[in-house]
Amino acid sequence: MPDSLVNLLYIVSAMLFVFGLKMLGKADTARKGNRISAIGMLIAIVTALASDNLIHWPWIVVGLAAGSVIGALAARLVAMTSMPEMVALFNGFGGIASLLVGWVEFQRLHSAGLLAGTPWNDLAIIGVTVLIGGVTFTGSMIAWGKLSEKMTSKPILYGGQQVVNGFTVILILAAILLVSVGRPFLGPGNLLPFLSPYTMLIVLGALSLIFGVMVVIPIGGGDMPVIISLLNAYSGMAACAAGFVIKNNVLIVSGALVGSSGIILTNIMCKAMNRSLANVLFSGFGSGGGSRQGAGFTGEAKPVSIEDAYPILEAAQNILIVPGYGMAVAQAQHAVQELASLLKENGAEVNFGIHPVAGRMPGHMNVLLAEANVPYDQLREMDDVNPTIEMVDVALVIGANDVVNPAARTDEGSPLYGMPVINVDKAHTVIVFKRSLNPGFAGVDNPLFFGENTRMLFGDAKHSMQGLVAEFKD
Ligand code: TAP
Repeated sequence: MPDSLVNLLYIVSAMLFVFGLKMLGKADTARKGNRISAIGMLIAIVTALASDNLIHWPWIVVGLAAGSVIGALAARLVAMTSMPEMVALFNGFGGIASLLVGWVEFQRLHSAGLLAGTPWNDLAIIGVTVLIGGVTFTGSMIAWGKLSEKMTSKPILYGGQQVVNGFTVILILAAILLVSVGRPFLGPGNLLPFLSPYTMLIVLGALSLIFGVMVVIPIGGGDMPVIISLLNAYSGMAACAAGFVIKNNVLIVSGALVGSSGIILTNIMCKAMNRSLANVLFSGFGSGGGSRQGAGFTGEAKPVSIEDAYPILEAAQNILIVPGYGMAVAQAQHAVQELASLLKENGAEVNFGIHPVAGRMPGHMNVLLAEANVPYDQLREMDDVNPTIEMVDVALVIGANDVVNPAARTDEGSPLYGMPVINVDKAHTVIVFKRSLNPGFAGVDNPLFFGENTRMLFGDAKHSMQGLVAEFKD
């Protein structure tokens, strides 16, 4: 296939990736966006396979078959709650693939005696590919271990950690320099007689793998979703660098898209938690060590029974449902959807208020509610619901805690202060569905539970929802 046709097809697939990504931004177009991106990927793969410089067909077919089987099985079998772990694993595989591409290319140049004639910047990009690929691989494996509880999810901290990490960075930079411009200093008769450029690349690979472990172990399990998003961005950058190594345009473009969208998502998550990336990376937050705030609340939490909650809901005209992590734990989404339908049938306007970091992974609530067939047009973002929240008759808070904590608005001493929240406390009545007055992820108490207009419906969210559904049906 001529190069011009190959590049034309690569442009088509890159365009499909961009359109697909754009569509993924909205719930009602997300499935279509996914399909369009998949078609783009198919075109890219077929074009790469049909281009002239392809060798070793049998191995490629074996790889394609194995990858397709594993991907299809994972998509079918992995539970929704295990999705973040699976994404971590896939990021890691992307990273190791890029590392291997860089290594194989260097090995080819080395064994053909072409290193001396290769421009330094080509060698540097191989070094960068190996670095990002290695860090992504081991970092993702640690993230997977922490999320799946194969290892402790607590931050692993030790004295002088930053110094050790800083020293490793210096060694890595030195290794990249030696790989790219260090040939005059390496080999017999030179400053470093026992090291060849190839040995330096192996040392760089080893250091990168070690560094991936070192940067992820100090991060608490609760912050892993942010780290996974960051590692996802790294895997894109590694693929982009690998694209430069093998001079493949579609790999450069798709890697850059993954890298940039991963960085944007990481930024959105940090902003929605009112944390800086540095705070996520270095503070050990989310390890269960968050400070408790407790003191200073006046009033008492007012419990309500299912029977007493029913007439409140029956009379309400405008209802806002705010789900959170507890809805995922209770797997209450189907019962929530059933109650929402009954409330609509009863003549009320029902909307869902979705906080960007409700739950434990990006889009967690959207995915659960889509699984329960909640219509997309009922899903509202935080910024859409807050301006009119005073008009809401009843806000149903289902297993959400931090994302509705008014202290984030009012209490400068709260660790949540400044984090944007859904202002359910401004609704006429709030009913909170949770099992106790315990704090949520951030470990801080919530004055909402003691508000004049708040009623606490204690118990498992699914059980309470089913109870209300039964009341309506009766
Ligand atoms: P949380 O603040 O974590 O609160 C969840 C609440 O659910 C808990 O207070 C718990 O109270 C309740 N719960 C647990 N199991 C339940 C059950 N079976 N039935 C009823 N309630 C149950 O959740 P949120 O409001 O969704 O906030 C998310 C938090 O996670 C934020 O702090 C956010 O910054 C953080 N975070 C989010 C992400 C992403 S990307 N979403 C990533 C990392 C961190 P009881 O024990 O009293 O029942």
